[in-house]
Amino acid sequence: MTDLDTFITGLPKAELHLHIEGSLEPELMFACAHRNGIAIPYASVEAVRAAYAFGNLQDFLDIYYAGAAVLCTARDFHDLAAAYFDRAAADGVVHAEIMFDPQTHMARGIAFGTVIEGLLSAMAEAEAKHGITSCLIMSFLRHLSENDAFATLAAAEPWFDRITAVGLDSSEIGHPPEKFARVFAAAAAKGLRLVAHAGEEGPPAYVWQALDGLKIDRLDHGNRSLEDAALVDRLVGDGMTLTVCPLSNVKLCVVPAIEDHPIDRMLALGLRATINSDDPAYFGGYIADNFRAVAYGRGLGKADLAVLARNSLTGSFLPPAAIAQHLQRLDAFLAMH
Ligand code: ADE
Ligand code: ZN
Repeated sequence: MTDLDTFITGLPKAELHLHIEGSLEPELMFACAHRNGIAIPYASVEAVRAAYAFGNLQDFLDIYYAGAAVLCTARDFHDLAAAYFDRAAADGVVHAEIMFDPQTHMARGIAFGTVIEGLLSAMAEAEAKHGITSCLIMSFLRHLSENDAFATLAAAEPWFDRITAVGLDSSEIGHPPEKFARVFAAAAAKGLRLVAHAGEEGPPAYVWQALDGLKIDRLDHGNRSLEDAALVDRLVGDGMTLTVCPLSNVKLCVVPAIEDHPIDRMLALGLRATINSDDPAYFGGYIADNFRAVAYGRGLGKADLAVLARNSLTGSFLPPAAIAQHLQRLDAFLAMH
């Protein structure tokens, strides 16, 4: 390990953009398929990994939803999240805000309670085992209807005290944020925070809609905001946190190569960018791999990496006192490195 690698894994950081279904490693996919009696169209773990070549977001989503179909029981969701937390702990994650896609599972007859109870049990264990705190972001699938999103919000109601935010993910182009303005307003009225994927493949207009129509607290991806100077000014003025996912951006052809990634441009413009793994089992790396990718691919040094970690803590949904404690630990770490 180089000095920079040690620095990256040691940096106290929060992960703010992680789809728990996207942390399903092929080994667990096979184990769940076997114990649930579900056939999968791959002969081996190697064959699964070989299938992970994507030309765009939709190519990925087709494979990602097929993979998630092996998750059936609370034990499956528990094991999925427990494996993620073990990896996150090794990468210096102190807090994780985890997205899950209930509609993917409810469409297969899996109860909302099965999904969330499995996740919550792993979250409690991770806090005891690793000291990692976490919270849940329930994401609506934007390729489905507004009605379907409202039904999902209603199904979640008994667990509102265990859900921190709602999000918006899946196929972006053709499904603008404004389609979900009313359901986001209803979620906000219930005390939930708001995040949305926008500007990953979709145009800057979708980011404007996420800000003004959905009234988001945090922006997932946001890459294409860079095409619109007025939008960048707005995001900087709002102090909006962007959850950037470098290896995802390469795998989904949002950028041609890591060497072309605009992360340093984002920081130079004053955007509050953070580094995240999105769907680590599919995109070839967890959060520290993403930090390493931009460190080596874009020549970011320790000072920039520390800003990215700081932004992740200040951009989290933790209470101010918890954020202040994490920042003290970050400053203590930086003083030693
Ligand atoms: N669901 C899981 N990962 C996603 C991504 N990167 N964009 C949109 N929807 C997703
Ligand atoms: Zn995502």
